[in-house]
Amino acid sequence: MTVRPARPDDAEAVRSIRNHAIEHSTALWTDTPQNPAQGVTWLAAHLERGSAFVAEADGEVAGFAVYGPWRELEGYRHTMENSVYVREDRHGLGIGSALLAALVTAAREAGHHVMIAGIEAENAASIRLHERFGFQHVGTVPEAGIKFGRRLALTLMRLPLT
Ligand SMILES: CC(C)(COP(=O)(O)OP(=O)(O)OC[C@H]1O[C@@H](n2cnc3c(N)ncnc32)[C@H](O)[C@@H]1OP(=O)(O)O)[C@@H](O)C(=O)NCCC(=O)NCCS
Repeated sequence: MTVRPARPDDAEAVRSIRNHAIEHSTALWTDTPQNPAQGVTWLAAHLERGSAFVAEADGEVAGFAVYGPWRELEGYRHTMENSVYVREDRHGLGIGSALLAALVTAAREAGHHVMIAGIEAENAASIRLHERFGFQHVGTVPEAGIKFGRRLALTLMRLPLT
């Protein structure tokens, strides 16, 4: 398995992994899958910033990770939010860890100050993954969202980068 910066031709594989999470999990709090054009546009913003990575295994994209501004106002400009998604049939093989390592390194090299992960509070795999990299639990917002008719709590985890 190798991790490399994402390329424009990864858009369809990334979209498929993202849409699977939208349709089947509470990891992403939307019910609306991306169409191919939206997938290209979404990835392009990350490619421009150099903030998208993919893991390749057996010649296929097995997962991706991105970071981008946590909030839009300029006062938040040194704080990035990350996302890591691994194809369901490749969970538990170290791919999420390899992706998050690449992402944290890239964000540090870009001079960002803090990385935030917003995680559905019952997502044990993601919480464990982030703990492993030194992210600290800074709070949980009860009933911050809703999906599949269930109110969801949002756990925020924070990693200092500088
Ligand atoms: C969260 C996710 C990215 C982890 O990726 P992964 O490749 O499966 O993770 P790794 O194999 O690198 O394992 C990382 C750590 O998480 C632990 N872990 C993995 N799956 C777990 C689970 N279901 N429950 C608890 N811990 C779990 C591993 O044991 C490992 O910890 P360790 O080193 O202490 O043993 C992956 O499960 C995923 O894509 N989930 C769906 C999308 C998602 O929830 N993304 C995060 C949104 S915030």
